[in-house]
Order: sequence, then structure tokens, then C-alpha cells
Amino acid sequence: MQQSLRTTLPMARLETTRLPAVAEIELALINADFPTGPLPQEVMQAVIAEPAYWAFCWGSGLALARFLLDEPSWVQGKVVVDLGSGSGVAGIAAAMAGAAQVIACDTDPFARQATTVNAAINQVTLEVTEQLPPLCDVLLMADVLYNQRNLPLLQLAQQHARQVLVADSRVTTLPDPSYVELTTIDALTYPNLGEFDEFATAHLFHWRG
Ligand SMILES: C[S@@+](CC[C@H](N)C(=O)[O-])C[C@H]1O[C@@H](n2cnc3c(N)ncnc32)[C@H](O)[C@@H]1O
Repeated sequence: MQQSLRTTLPMARLETTRLPAVAEIELALINADFPTGPLPQEVMQAVIAEPAYWAFCWGSGLALARFLLDEPSWVQGKVVVDLGSGSGVAGIAAAMAGAAQVIACDTDPFARQATTVNAAINQVTLEVTEQLPPLCDVLLMADVLYNQRNLPLLQLAQQHARQVLVADSRVTTLPDPSYVELTTIDALTYPNLGEFDEFATAHLFHWRG
């Protein structure tokens, strides 16, 4: 993981950090004192080509983790999928909140590795896969709609889950009206490298089949 992070950000390192506002969870993330100034051109290109999303805990993931730990009945005893797990924050929170089984899915192999490592740090068991399992009780999606191309995941989620919880700070309304907004939660991406303050509120949407 360290090596992969340094491929894109040569001056970065991973450090294990307890999350602000979700002190129950510790994650291996990019160092919080990473310089926030403009990056050299070649580094910027590498970041765009292979973004290490898994090295951050995104505001929406943080918000969803807080929500599940405060309201565990959403996942208690249930089979839960964390789609676009990144660091694994939402899935780890679901496991801590008493989910019967948590499956973390991510297309990025380094995110799958990060989720495995972070689950171990928090002493919870997560299955980690690239493919969505056929059916789960609750599918979590935190900060996966950052790219318009990911909007079809809203329909895909409905085919693989009885309920879906979407947390997103970039998208304030969803194109599918069957998703109902439950609440908003203030949360910043951690570490905050200075450019995310406009995304300080996560919107939480729910769909039930
Ligand atoms: C911005 S990160 C959010 C990570 C984490 N959920 C959080 O809140 O910190 C988005 C993640 O979604 C993953 N992703 C993007 N498209 C995906 C897809 N079609 N299926 C599964 N994962 C996807 C990316 O690889 C990345 O790890």
C-alpha cells in the first residue's frame, strides 16, 4: 500500500489515525501533514491517472460510519455490502454496529487491500471482493457518485439489495425519485488537504425495495 501510494505521491506516507467524529475507528491513511500546495506537474498527472481514493476517508464515508454507529438497527444482524469501499470505513462501521456479514466491493485492487488492512486494524471481519454479491439486505454507497458515469450504480444497487443507503457530499439530489433523503450530516474528508470544504455536508438517501 505504501509503495502504491508513493507511485502517485512520492512524498506521502501512510499513518494509522483515529477518525475525527468517529473515534471508534482507526484507519491507515495518507499523512495528515501532507503539503497542500500545488503539486508538480508529473505528480498531478500520476494522481489523475491513478487516484489513491483509498488513502483518504471521504466525508460521506465518515458521515455514513457515524450514522450506522449511532443507529445500529439499520445493519444489525443483516448482510451488508459496502460498494466502493475505499478505505473500508462504512463497512467497518457496519461490522462494529453488529452486521451479521459485511462484504466490501471495490474495483481498485489497492482499495481492496486497504479495506483488508483497515478491517484488521479495527479487529472486524470483512469479506473483500471485486464483484457485487447477488443479493444483500443493505447496500452502502459512500462517495461513489463523484463521477457522473457512476450514476447507473443507483439502479445496479437496487438489483442487488433489499435496501440501499447512499451518502454523498457532491450530489445533493438523486436522479431516481425512489431514493428518499433521510438526513444530512456535516463531515469533512480526512485528512483534509485543503480543497474539500465545499463538500462539508453529506446527504443520506434511502431506498427500500
Ligand atoms: C471517493 S472513494 C470513497 C471511498 C469510501 N466509500 C469512503 O467514503 O471513504 C470512491 C471509491 O469507489 C470505488 N469505485 C468507483 N467506481 C466503482 C464501481 N463501479 N464499483 C466499485 N467500486 C467503485 C473507487 O475505486 C473508490 O475506492
